[in-house]
Amino acid sequence: MCGIIARIGHGDAAETLLSGLENLEYRGYDSAGIAVQNGSGVKVHKCSGEVDDLKSSLESQPHGNMGIGHTRWSTHGPPTDANAHPHTDTAGDVAVVHNGVIDNYDELRAELQAKGHEFESDTDTEVIPHLIDEYRTETGDSEEAVRRAVETLEGSYAIAAIVDGEEAVYAARKGSPLVLGLDDEEWFLASDVPAFLDHTDEVIYLEDGDIVVLDPDSYRITDLEGTPLDRSTDTVDWDPEDAGKGEYDHYMLKEINNQPTSLSNTIEGRIDDGDVALEELPAGTFEDVETVQFVACGTSYHAAMYGANLLRSAGISTEVVRASEYTSMSGPVDEGTLVVAVTQSGETADTLEAVREATARGARSLAVTNVVGSTAAREADDAIYIRAGPEVGVAATKTFSSQAVTLALLTQRLAADVPTATPAEDRETMLEELKELPEHVERVLETTDAESLARDTVDSKSYFFIGNGLGHSVALEGALKFKEITYEHAEGFAAGELKHGPLALVTDETPVFAVATGSGDGKTKTNAIEAQTRGAPIVAVSPDDHPLTDVAEVHLSIPDTHPVWAGLLANVQLQLVSYHAADLLERPIDKPRNLAKSVTVE
Ligand code: BG6
Repeated sequence: MCGIIARIGHGDAAETLLSGLENLEYRGYDSAGIAVQNGSGVKVHKCSGEVDDLKSSLESQPHGNMGIGHTRWSTHGPPTDANAHPHTDTAGDVAVVHNGVIDNYDELRAELQAKGHEFESDTDTEVIPHLIDEYRTETGDSEEAVRRAVETLEGSYAIAAIVDGEEAVYAARKGSPLVLGLDDEEWFLASDVPAFLDHTDEVIYLEDGDIVVLDPDSYRITDLEGTPLDRSTDTVDWDPEDAGKGEYDHYMLKEINNQPTSLSNTIEGRIDDGDVALEELPAGTFEDVETVQFVACGTSYHAAMYGANLLRSAGISTEVVRASEYTSMSGPVDEGTLVVAVTQSGETADTLEAVREATARGARSLAVTNVVGSTAAREADDAIYIRAGPEVGVAATKTFSSQAVTLALLTQRLAADVPTATPAEDRETMLEELKELPEHVERVLETTDAESLARDTVDSKSYFFIGNGLGHSVALEGALKFKEITYEHAEGFAAGELKHGPLALVTDETPVFAVATGSGDGKTKTNAIEAQTRGAPIVAVSPDDHPLTDVAEVHLSIPDTHPVWAGLLANVQLQLVSYHAADLLERPIDKPRNLAKSVTVE
């Protein structure tokens, strides 16, 4: 997935484009580029590397009141200068930035080369400016040319284009997110709101098939036939300050430390007199639901496992399917199926496709997401927001905690609505203790020994994480976080699985982090001892009085609380261990290699 931006208005565009790209860099950082139009041609500046590399490559600030920009996560062609966006046609009159994948690019490329178009990159994107140029020659009209060009594309795209000598920006979307930012002095188009949030919070979320034309004083939205469209305006309730690092060295550390606040926002107004109150999902919403299917990727998949564990305990038949595997892995689907998309960005293509498949087979859909106006939220029958606030660090942290809490609250809603379900007997206690969760997280952040533990174990050969029940999804999440940002070998297991194979990897150089939540983890101590017997140092992540602390060499303490919330406290400890280990290894923590915040291509 990439980040695109466009700006037109009064005054120079370059600075705004560059700072917008910096705020989009969580979407990809393999290369960066801008193109500005200043009446004497379209000037393209691009290079492999990050936005900082692009800025230092500029001899002087390019002038021009309009332009486009791009930050890349490579899908087609390695991260080189030539493959960086913007791409142009042979004459350099049309410049284009693109987020998505063009599936039929190779046959289009061959057709265009046969007509004399010269290509400079390996990318799928480069066919677009050549197509626009081709249709401009045919029609003499750039807007019509853009419309015809996108009609020939198969795949997903959000594109922005500028044409030499024209004071206009042309854009289109299908399958990839694109949002229009409205301000008095200027207009923006971008893959996501952080790109221009410090200029305006008035936005229009564009739909698939929308064609947009901006000029310095107005904007026009039409469909592929050219029929004008009227789109509603939304106000983004995120504060631009949220998009900054504040006093922290990394967004990830800021977001880990932000969890007491983000969790308070997630919980606020959702517990009423010992019961759950979800304004988006009133009582009775799910009385026709028989089974639940979670679809998700990455960290969201582990949060979905957490939710599924709770739903099963309430007697609701539930499966969790990796979204990229949905077509081949999902069980039967019908009108009684509720498919729940767990996705912080609301834009992960694998998850969106899985939901489209499930609803096509009759399921009802619910999006559990962090982004208002995201594609997942707009396409689903219902949506519930996790309210974690913007998350910039590529490795998800605070959104996992807010997802798990939102799914636990959703469980209570479903357990009350679904005729065959049984709400948790200790629901009132559980909800009472939820109110203390932000404070408990605060205590973990203040008292943690994660940094010294990271220092003591940084030279280990591999890192293993084990847990049972709710602890299992936390162990998997702990291992994923460790892999994502340290690049070290780390794996998570159901504790009981270790002896059925992975134990062969265990030595005195492989610390084993054992997660205990107080529910279903009686066996975890036994499994930890089995690993200790092979020499592994054991790290207990548990309340102080847990039996696991009797056998462990090191203890990462978590406050006593209801087992449903203990797993989240344990996960904060594991987030901190990963963070400090990556910091010791001097890894680019916010932008780990080869990854992106959410991947909008399949
Ligand atoms: C990956 C991110 O690209 O997508 C992970 O690096 C994330 O952090 C995963 O968990 C799923 O993203 P989302 O937005 O669907 O929750």
